[in-house]
Amino acid sequence: MKPSVVLYKKLPEDLRTKLDEHFTVTEINGLTPETLSQHAAAFQQAEGILGSGGKIDAEFLAKAPKLRAASSVSVGVDNFDIAALNDRGVALMHTPTVLTETVADTMMALVLAAARRVTEVAERVKAGEWQSSIGADWFGIDVHHKKLGILGMGRIGLALAQRANLGFSMPILYNARKHHEEAEQRFGATWCDLDTLLRESDFLCISLPLTNETHHLIGREQLAKMKHSAVLINAGRGPVIDEEALIAALKDGTIHAAGLDVFEKEPLPVDSPLLTLPNVVALPHVGSATHETRYGMARDAVDNLIAALSGKVEKNCVNPQVIIASRQG
Ligand code: GLV
Ligand code: GLV
Repeated sequence: MKPSVVLYKKLPEDLRTKLDEHFTVTEINGLTPETLSQHAAAFQQAEGILGSGGKIDAEFLAKAPKLRAASSVSVGVDNFDIAALNDRGVALMHTPTVLTETVADTMMALVLAAARRVTEVAERVKAGEWQSSIGADWFGIDVHHKKLGILGMGRIGLALAQRANLGFSMPILYNARKHHEEAEQRFGATWCDLDTLLRESDFLCISLPLTNETHHLIGREQLAKMKHSAVLINAGRGPVIDEEALIAALKDGTIHAAGLDVFEKEPLPVDSPLLTLPNVVALPHVGSATHETRYGMARDAVDNLIAALSGKVEKNCVNPQVIIASRQG
């Protein structure tokens, strides 16, 4: 008998077919308290789940007593209680490699858009304006040759360093727990402590996962250390920045501008000042949202679930100790 799984995200047709070949699939419309209670019987039987979003914690796991693997169509796994998964021996799979270049492209797009005011100026053109002889009202700031700071040097940070350094002649500073030899050798990146990174960066790009340690890592005190001319970019997870402090800093000129793909609360509330401040470029959490990359993420998530439920995991597992324990048991 094929294992039962719950699918809570739409898949491209060919991938859905592949999933059906391996599993008995119940497809539901997102993972919410409502869908959870509507489809309680499916969760009772499910050995695997696949999708993105939702909250997977001990309370959820109590409703899915047979669960052995969760496959997330994302790199970030902050919506999972990993300790609870480990306690229950549930493998957590994600898609860390396939989206790297695309998210780095998004971060570079935010750097350029915030510096050159691309969205703001484009809106003015659409409204019928054209550059007048007074001109300076339309000016932005240079990107090339400025110092780009990277907070968190993982795969995405490295891909951003490559773009900024080789493409835009930007010196790279970074802060991470460990030195990143490849970033240093290939892109001349210099490790520095957080205070130095805040003080020196012209563009400070955050590429960190959300954990207890990174929650509100950037608050009022940190923003105050940045240059008044600095631009802050975040395409990791919103709560890494204290958003109230950021709004104040953008209003009073503590920093120059921000380019944000992620927010403390998503969707961003329609009354958020971030939607009206002229020095903010806001995107709706679309860092990985290209046709090619979203397909690749879905494909990897399907392969990850097949591997996890057949005990053949080789990569993309957040808690491989669970797999090892189940092989031994
Ligand atoms: C998206 O935010 C992801 O974690 O993939
Ligand atoms: C990633 O950052 C996404 O698009 O979900």
